[in-house]
Amino acid sequence: MIKAPGYLETQKGYGRAERTVWQAGRKKRTDMDRTEEIEETGTAKDVLILAVESSCDETAASVVKNGREVLSNIISSQIALHTTYGGVVPEIASRKHIEKINQVIEEALCEAKVSLHDITAIAVTYGPGLVGALLVGVSTAKAISLAADIPLVGVHHIEGHISANYIENKELEPPFICLVVSGGHSHLVAVKDYGEYEILGRTRDDAAGEAFDKVARAIGLGYPGGPKIDKVSKEGNAEAIAFPRAKVADSVYDFSFSGLKSAVLNYLNQCEMKGISVCQADVAASFQKAVVDVLVEHSMQAVEEYGLRKFAIAGGVASNSSLREAFVRECSRRGIAFYSPSPIFCTDNAAMIGTAGYYEYCKGVRHGYDLNAVPNLRLGERV
Ligand code: KG4
Ligand code: ZN
Repeated sequence: MIKAPGYLETQKGYGRAERTVWQAGRKKRTDMDRTEEIEETGTAKDVLILAVESSCDETAASVVKNGREVLSNIISSQIALHTTYGGVVPEIASRKHIEKINQVIEEALCEAKVSLHDITAIAVTYGPGLVGALLVGVSTAKAISLAADIPLVGVHHIEGHISANYIENKELEPPFICLVVSGGHSHLVAVKDYGEYEILGRTRDDAAGEAFDKVARAIGLGYPGGPKIDKVSKEGNAEAIAFPRAKVADSVYDFSFSGLKSAVLNYLNQCEMKGISVCQADVAASFQKAVVDVLVEHSMQAVEEYGLRKFAIAGGVASNSSLREAFVRECSRRGIAFYSPSPIFCTDNAAMIGTAGYYEYCKGVRHGYDLNAVPNLRLGERV
């Protein structure tokens, strides 16, 4: 293995017992030094993470101070580009990332008013996601790590989404239950500690965001479906059509959205055959309500059963206004503390990677230059 600066010989834990061994004889500040620094002076230098995210259709970079203070959050979205094709085209996404990534990183440093010399470590999403898209971020981060001689920390994209909750909720600490609903994932997770997760439930077929995108396409709203359904639903009647609330027979926490999607398609076909005009807003609102009901019911069941009185949401679908309102209502009724990132930190961004990267960095996680993109990286898995 070729090791990046600061790659740890021992990654088992952190604290006094496991002194960091830095490679290539470079004199660097170690986690141990940091502990000694705090003991001697009562203060420690700030940890500045430069974070890079390129797992799907957003090229993003951010500088995050001490895990929870976002100094910059630059996002270059490719949505307009992919709209022509009705969804993300992986090859186009990779090319656009290559075009944008250096500029986005420069902007992030500039807005944070720091240079690479000030950066403690570089964190990058290495999975899950589109392999070509991930590779752009990973290669760039490795190059910066080598050129600027700063440690490299690979971050799991979904752990990033969960960690977005720490940014604006300074008091939030694990353990808590988190519902992660994005374009590729729907997970109900027990966050036991920083970087420690237990998956309680997951989707058996489509992810929640995927269902939003497919239904939006079917009712003529186009891509990206989630925000469009959210908007048009405000004009519709959520009780107009009784779409099914799917239950998975052998698991109370698993989700299934493909049956709901088929029910919407059947409804549209039947209307067409009978010559009945379809009210787009009513279909959108009724579909959205069916998704929200299931997400709320499963999540609240997990919170009650696990006895954790803290609940958070994360991922692109977590920016859905109806879902947020439903959780605010339900959590307050049950006396559960509810946390949600602002919409800008729900959809893909690099600040969340900086936050997750900070906690990984503090644990002593360092990656070598053999860090690769892992498109199917599982939550909690470490490569
Ligand atoms: O987390 P994200 O930005 O990317 C992934 O990691 O997948 O999530 C994107 C997904 C898309 O499916 C998009 O339609 C959905 O999040 N989404 C929404 C809303 N905003 C984005 N779904 C419902 N309501 C929204 N307001
Ligand atoms: Zn995402």
